[in-house]
Amino acid sequence: MSGYSTTTMLIIPSFLLCLLFSSFFPSGSANTCRSYCGNLTIDYPFAVRSGCGHPGFRDLLYCINDVLMFHISSGSYRVLDIDYAYQALTLHEPHMSTCDSIVLGAKGNGFSVEQWRAPYMNPTADNVFMLIGCSAQSPLFQGFPGKHLPCRNVSGMSCEEYYGCPAWDMLGHRRVGSMFGSGPPECCAVPFEAIKAVNLTKLQCEGYSSAYNLAPLKLDGAHGWSYGIRVKYSVQENDEFCRACEATSGTCGYGADGIRQLCMCGSFNSTSNCDSVKSASTRTYSMAESYTFRGLLVCLLAYITQKHY
Ligand SMILES: *[C@@H]1O[C@H](CO)[C@@H](O)[C@H](O)[C@H]1NC(C)=O
Ligand SMILES: *[C@@H]1O[C@H](CO)[C@@H](O)[C@H](O)[C@H]1NC(C)=O
Ligand SMILES: *[C@@H]1O[C@H](CO)[C@@H](O)[C@H](O)[C@H]1NC(C)=O
Ligand SMILES: *[C@@H]1O[C@H](CO)[C@@H](O)[C@H](O)[C@H]1NC(C)=O
Repeated sequence: MSGYSTTTMLIIPSFLLCLLFSSFFPSGSANTCRSYCGNLTIDYPFAVRSGCGHPGFRDLLYCINDVLMFHISSGSYRVLDIDYAYQALTLHEPHMSTCDSIVLGAKGNGFSVEQWRAPYMNPTADNVFMLIGCSAQSPLFQGFPGKHLPCRNVSGMSCEEYYGCPAWDMLGHRRVGSMFGSGPPECCAVPFEAIKAVNLTKLQCEGYSSAYNLAPLKLDGAHGWSYGIRVKYSVQENDEFCRACEATSGTCGYGADGIRQLCMCGSFNSTSNCDSVKSASTRTYSMAESYTFRGLLVCLLAYITQKHY
């Protein structure tokens, strides 16, 4: 008798506690889209799961053996960093020339994105592309009458400085001036904006290098530069949709069409946010699917079973 009342005394507070817990459980989903790859955090607008993130970045990132890969029409790149504060990505690929090695044979990816993706990402204005060994017939040198060339210094970085790298000594290159004389210059530096796509085949170049400088001061010499492609990304239309979705504990994603944004609210998807009853799917919202309800059910079951022992 006294044993029974002790059990009841324990069960009632535990049921109340259980109730309390289940009501604290968010009815929206936990962020099922955020993930990690190696030491990189993958968060909105990026995702490695289909249906997660912003549609402009769909089918873009893949995590392979803890290495984050970025895939666009010109090829695959390793992601070295994602800077969410400055909205920039840093990419690298093995056939990109650096200060230590020059890769010829037009094996490099260069950089060009699918047309539909172009509004969402572009190499930054202070990223320099240095095109190496381009033919005199290259489209790069056409439409520049007289002795003018499109080649220039970008953000204080120039081919003149790049020639100072050890990689060039090994090549035993002939330095050709910045003017057409005996031929085009061996290296031509341009910002991405000037050419819109770095396609070595189309530009008839043997190789390329890409560098950026994050230091506030101009660095002395090309060995101080960072080699890689610095890409600025943006979600356009300042993304009211995702902010409203996240504010209601939702997770931002997109629909099967790969265009329409969706707010994932755990048990249902919304075309606006999780406070709205407008459901994006044809399935009707079912109370039995909500976390709160499930939690309650578990508590009740536990309570009933315990009471009979
Ligand atoms: C991530 O790991 C790489 C080596 O795999 C290292 O070079 C880099 O500095 C690390 N980044 C951070 C932010 O820890
Ligand atoms: C919500 O959308 C995501 C992404 O498109 C999908 O994976 C998921 O199955 C959808 N959930 C529901 C309940 O329809
Ligand atoms: C690069 O240019 C070549 C020749 O114009 C073209 O066939 C190829 O599709 C282009 N590559 C990309 C990724 O645009
Ligand atoms: C580019 O930089 C080089 C080396 O720093 C310098 O000699 C040259 O005058 C610069 N050219 C232009 C056009 O600014």
